[in-house]
Amino acid sequence: MSKHDKSNDLSICKTVLICGLVLYMCTIIFLNNSDRFPSSDLFSTSQTIKSSNVAETNISHLVFGLLGNEKAWYHRKHYVEAWWRPNVTRGHLFLDVPPKGNLLPWSLSSPPYRISDDVSKLLKETKHVDARVLRIVHGIMEVVREAREDVRWVIMGDDDSVFFVDNMVDILAQYDHNKYYYFGGHSEFILSNYWYSFNQGFGGAGIILSYPLAKTFANNVMSCLKRYAHLKSSDRTTMLCVADLGVNLSPLQGIHQIDLRGDISGFLSYHPKSLLASLHHYDMVNPIFPSMNRAQSGFHLQNVAKYDQSRMLQQTICHHRSQSWTFSVSWGYSAHIYEKIMPRSWIQRPIETFQTWQRSPRPPHYMFDTRSPSWNPCEAPHMFFLKSVEKMRSGEIVTTYTRGWPRGIGACLPSGNYSAEYVSEIHVYSSATKRTKIDRCECCDVTHETGSNKADIKYRECKIDEIIA
Ligand SMILES: *[C@@H]1O[C@H](CO)[C@@H](O)[C@H](O)[C@H]1NC(C)=O
Ligand SMILES: *[C@@H]1O[C@H](CO)[C@@H](O)[C@H](O)[C@H]1NC(C)=O
Ligand SMILES: *[C@@H]1O[C@H](CO)[C@@H](O)[C@H](O)[C@H]1NC(C)=O
Repeated sequence: MSKHDKSNDLSICKTVLICGLVLYMCTIIFLNNSDRFPSSDLFSTSQTIKSSNVAETNISHLVFGLLGNEKAWYHRKHYVEAWWRPNVTRGHLFLDVPPKGNLLPWSLSSPPYRISDDVSKLLKETKHVDARVLRIVHGIMEVVREAREDVRWVIMGDDDSVFFVDNMVDILAQYDHNKYYYFGGHSEFILSNYWYSFNQGFGGAGIILSYPLAKTFANNVMSCLKRYAHLKSSDRTTMLCVADLGVNLSPLQGIHQIDLRGDISGFLSYHPKSLLASLHHYDMVNPIFPSMNRAQSGFHLQNVAKYDQSRMLQQTICHHRSQSWTFSVSWGYSAHIYEKIMPRSWIQRPIETFQTWQRSPRPPHYMFDTRSPSWNPCEAPHMFFLKSVEKMRSGEIVTTYTRGWPRGIGACLPSGNYSAEYVSEIHVYSSATKRTKIDRCECCDVTHETGSNKADIKYRECKIDEIIA
């Protein structure tokens, strides 16, 4: 053995010894920490160390705090019962006063309720100027106070919002719940963001706080309410409180405040490529299905969502070349036929069927590109709305869309005078496999025999070089 080898051996011995020591100390520190911090405490070091092998986030890790009032609950309960899963979804409805009349006995299909803390007492304590704002912001603390210890995400929302809970789980599962997150959505109406803040989540549509943030927020809510006692916006106050804790908004594209008015079918038919999480202001817009009222529309939408939430409102476009038609499907909601071959880049822009939230004399109105409704037969789509959904024996899901109304403006002549007026029903076949990672849209193929009043569309993944134009 050479001198060189010997010194090598010695250094290996040293390394082994040091490694052993380090390991030993780590174990001691780890054990001490797990003793010092009970595993129920989400802030504990042991939780962070374990975070590589924690269970995937599921619906039980989400807690909802829905702020409502007794008066409106008589009709709004239908919207919430459409998405709430009794004994599965966690959380509470917070009412301003105890329920009365035919709200009792309390419906088992509704979220269990709580009465908000005594606002007049809190007003005195904080010198806040606005009871409504105080109740909502303080509500976050009340939700945290009621939450079970395994909660990962706290979701605040209004009682005139519909949530897509499976999608929310799939979105949130992509993030580390031990970190500080404040998720929400902007207003669609530019001026609302300008008036309130471009940095706030608009609360009715849902703001989502990771548990560490929600807990810190709750601990400091009274000091924040005092600090911003003059403010008359709960969403802005929440944003300011969060900002003072060192955290800023991460906008999520699937959360929709719906600061729009009238017919929002144009908006819902051209949804951005991300999982649908919520639709707010359900009471402020027309019923989303033309032949139904609001409550029926809510159940209709949530019913199709039971089959496949991941594809809800995802836009898929395909062309029927022999007749120069373009089909655009918003899964689970609508299907449009254009009598011209149109590129996806053009079709993806929402048609402005809706109006602004408040009077706004000149553009820009919206936070997204739009196109104006057109009476040009080459630009105006034939509109179809979801009628039914079923799962086939093969596992595929068929959604059927029927014509909303006759278009009645003649055919698009330059592209061959092929009217689609006689098409009355569109069947869309999609895979039963969820599609939660939306890096690219799906593609589709059309089957339609000339003269038939039905068209079939079959979804598939796009080919590598496929161009949707
Ligand atoms: C969610 O995961 C937890 C483990 O963290 C498990 O105990 C619970 O049963 C799961 N809930 C559902 C609804 O899958
Ligand atoms: C929910 O749980 C309660 C008590 O455990 C039970 O009485 C009730 O029937 C359940 N509701 C549903 C819809 O399963
Ligand atoms: C377009 O088609 C309709 C129905 O097939 C026909 O009556 C009409 O004359 C056609 N128009 C032109 C300009 O070709």
